[in-house]
Amino acid sequence: MTQENKQTASRKKAPALALIGAGRMGGAMMRGWLASGLVRSSKAHVFEPTPQPDLIALADEFGLKLNPDMEKLAKQKGVDLAVLAVKPQVMATVLPTYQPLWGGDGGLPLTISIAAGVSLASLGALLPEGTPIIRAMPNTPAAIGQGVTALIGNAHVTEAGYEQAEALLAAVGTVVRLDNEGQMDAVTAVSGSGPAYVFHLAECLTAAGTRAGLPEKMAAQLAIGTVTGAAGLLDQSADDPAALRQMVTSPGGTTAAALDILMGDKGLRDLMSRAVSAAAARSKELDQKN
Ligand SMILES: NC(=O)c1ccc[n+]([C@@H]2O[C@H](COP(=O)([O-])OP(=O)(O)OC[C@H]3O[C@@H](n4cnc5c(N)ncnc54)[C@H](OP(=O)(O)O)[C@@H]3O)[C@@H](O)[C@H]2O)c1
Repeated sequence: MTQENKQTASRKKAPALALIGAGRMGGAMMRGWLASGLVRSSKAHVFEPTPQPDLIALADEFGLKLNPDMEKLAKQKGVDLAVLAVKPQVMATVLPTYQPLWGGDGGLPLTISIAAGVSLASLGALLPEGTPIIRAMPNTPAAIGQGVTALIGNAHVTEAGYEQAEALLAAVGTVVRLDNEGQMDAVTAVSGSGPAYVFHLAECLTAAGTRAGLPEKMAAQLAIGTVTGAAGLLDQSADDPAALRQMVTSPGGTTAAALDILMGDKGLRDLMSRAVSAAAARSKELDQKN
């Protein structure tokens, strides 16, 4: 079967999928796929040397067999899809040990890597020539089905392959297709690391509330409720963030007084821009090491 046919055919039926590394992110994705029915447990092959209680519970819930015989799997039917969710620093040593999965008669599986900073070229060098590879960057809200994932593929990925990867990653949130791999450093800095910025916002709002005279526990309850409530409103509203902000800002009022500080010279826009630039620069440095 040609690559094009294989990527199209596996999109039409439930694909046989191998997940290599089922830790926090891999486990969350597998939960999303099984729960949504995108992947059937009989066709899901999970390789994980130290299954954690969450993964064992997931396997029990869906009748998923962990750590199957790889050689047998490769010989019998192979896989349509391989998802790589091990840490970036072990990719080069781990991937060659799974080589039989790319050696079956059924053609080369569409391979999706979520490892931060491991380029398409580095992955390509570890896999057989011609392997369709997609590099994806999810973020931690994927654990509750509300992640956002950016992805980009190499020249061997067909449109059907892209659609299949997008459908899989949509099981854990929204998906954005990039124009080129060079955008990945900025993606890492905005959405990959972004949840931490929001958590820090909740910490800062708590600290400011405490300084303004509230007991710490109460300040935290108010700050966390505000961050999650505002995020929910932003998600459900048709208005963009600027419009929502304007709606709660009366001229001369309390919100305007605070925004004069946040939006003033060297305010949050400048701070966020410097923070994102630092994260993007660090991502570029790490890319060069992998
Ligand atoms: N967490 C995030 O927010 C996030 C966001 C975007 C991308 N990512 C990417 O997602 C990947 C996984 O991150 P994570 O946070 O899920 O890390 P994690 O929880 O450490 O998961 C990685 C898993 O891979 C397992 N593993 C190690 N060697 C293996 C082997 N030979 N075969 C199969 N599995 C093996 C690890 O097992 P051991 O514990 O026994 O080593 C671990 O359970 C990373 O590449 C990361 O860059 C993560």
